[in-house]
Amino acid sequence: MWGGGRRSRPEGLSEKLHLPTVWGGRPKAGWGAPDLNLLLYGAPGSGKGTQANMLREKFGIPHIATGDMLRAEIAAGTDLGKQAQPILAAGKYVSDDIMIGIVRSRLTQPDCKPGFIMDGFPRTVPQARALDDLMTDLGKRFDRVIYLKVPIEELLERLSGRLVCPRCQRTYPPGTAACAVDGSELVQREDDKPEAVRPRIEIYLEKTVPVLDHYRVGGLVSEIDGRGTIEEISRQVLAAASAPGARRPHPQARVKA
Ligand code: AP5
Ligand code: MG
Repeated sequence: MWGGGRRSRPEGLSEKLHLPTVWGGRPKAGWGAPDLNLLLYGAPGSGKGTQANMLREKFGIPHIATGDMLRAEIAAGTDLGKQAQPILAAGKYVSDDIMIGIVRSRLTQPDCKPGFIMDGFPRTVPQARALDDLMTDLGKRFDRVIYLKVPIEELLERLSGRLVCPRCQRTYPPGTAACAVDGSELVQREDDKPEAVRPRIEIYLEKTVPVLDHYRVGGLVSEIDGRGTIEEISRQVLAAASAPGARRPHPQARVKA
């Protein structure tokens, strides 16, 4: 059963083989392990992508980053990419209807069944409500919303110097020579140019800050001071993601096979 915290194991496969453990003693995703659904929340440049990469490696669940998905569409020159490109370049938001459709089709992919790390969605209250409905349809619920809190001055500094791998989308601090994973030459993201950074922060304050209250009501938010070394923040993020009792049964699960 998905979302109820238990899944049946295919016949003939031993529990031992399918319950690898990770830091914090939490079972890694696999048959027999409870699913783990995490939501990373924070302003542009707060470190969501950086911490999501770490969580993906630790827990073996996919990183669903709506910004990365839009940039992939832009790079591929699809109709959606052509529509989204000027919006991202200006630091504005793509419409709720489009974003909800993208997330719905991504979360219903089989690789999300053991759980996922959501990054960059929901960014508006209507998106948050749509995600609640989608999670209910899938018989899932979030185990934890991890809020990386960073002051605006530091966000501006981080974004102006950030480098990104055009191939795998990993982000790096200023001065990094090449992607540590695939060796690609790093580039600046189009929306990290000065004319787009301020509008991104402004729209975050106006439309995305209210989303946090939506999750605070459910008592799901772990607030982490996002200043400090990446390793220090990672330790706190892992502790929040692995906290005993983070999982609770979903009261209204409409479970689908
Ligand atoms: P998206 O790609 O989601 O961008 P964002 O939310 O603005 O966040 P960033 O990716 O810029 O920052 P991050 O928090 O991931 O930080 P990172 O780890 O890279 O969205 C882009 C655009 O797509 C949006 O503006 C919008 O147009 C559109 N979009 C996406 N989703 C949408 C939605 N749901 N609805 C509507 N439109 C949507 O770190 C930043 C830098 O800091 C890096 O250089 C990193 O190395 C460094 N760093 C990380 N941690 C630390 C640390 N602890 N100390 C010092 N430096 C650090
Ligand atoms: Mg990011």
